[in-house]
Amino acid sequence: MSPRTQTGPTQTGPTQTDQPTTITVRAAAKINLHLGVGGPRADGFHPLVTVYQAISLQDTITASLPADAQAEVELSLACASYLTPGTVPPGADNLACRAAVALAGHHGVRARARLHIDKQIPVAGGLAGGSADAAAALVALDRLWGLRTPLADLHRIAADLGSDVPFALLGGTALGTGRGEVVTPIEDPGPWWWVIVPADSGLSTPAVYAAFDRLHPGAGDPAPADRLLSALATGEPERLAAALHNDLQEAALALRPELARTLASGGAAGALAALISGSGPSCVFLAADAEHAATVAERLRAEHPVVLVASAPTAGA
Ligand code: C5P
Repeated sequence: MSPRTQTGPTQTGPTQTDQPTTITVRAAAKINLHLGVGGPRADGFHPLVTVYQAISLQDTITASLPADAQAEVELSLACASYLTPGTVPPGADNLACRAAVALAGHHGVRARARLHIDKQIPVAGGLAGGSADAAAALVALDRLWGLRTPLADLHRIAADLGSDVPFALLGGTALGTGRGEVVTPIEDPGPWWWVIVPADSGLSTPAVYAAFDRLHPGAGDPAPADRLLSALATGEPERLAAALHNDLQEAALALRPELARTLASGGAAGALAALISGSGPSCVFLAADAEHAATVAERLRAEHPVVLVASAPTAGA
């Protein structure tokens, strides 16, 4: 595994006890280097073989106890200038708040927390921003509430919150199977450099899976990730570029045809490869190294208002 660029949660507050009063946890976005999708299971979810990679585009979650002893989960948000604040689910609908309630419920304690999310990850963008926030909330509140939840339990709570949440806990690079919630770490020789072009509005994940079903009636098992894993192990960006694969890309393009132009603009800007991230609509472009990523990003800025650069892999929550 590559050197991790983050440490664990930072804590501030009184040091007389182990119990911190404020915890800050960083939550990494992900991209899917390989996303093989099979026909829907009886429960409606699709079996996946995916390779997740955590990238250095991150939200920051700060958890503290509310001043009011009766208060439950309070949420406040700050957003990067390129994000539209109204697009972040507020209050109890936010996955981080649902994570707080789920963790408290698991232990039979009252969910009492102030959560502040500093958002950098585009919402509903196929970058698992909501899942990252949920994973970070679990880690922060486990520490804040002094629960010491066993990792296996934390993983189960994460999986109940969403298919991508267990990976958001783990970070790095990992193989995802089942509906994506069964994660196994993978050795990654990185670093890799990505240029990201978010869309101005999100795509609904269920809608993209439904479009996949219309395009691929009777789909069988998900495509294996062997080719991607061999390419990743070489550490060569050109080899990785040739092996990137996303079975949801065609479905995302069917719902948002203009993304084809965004993908093409990456090629014209000299990127090694262009790919829709997960269920989209964020487009990601692989660069050869940091300098190349800066060049590709600069060229893309001529056409796109928001262009981000990230390295990978990076740590989980
Ligand atoms: O697990 P998560 O809450 O992220 O899933 C959101 C939706 O995406 C599901 O309700 C389902 O419609 C779709 N999905 C799927 N197969 C998966 C993951 C998600 O069909 N493996």
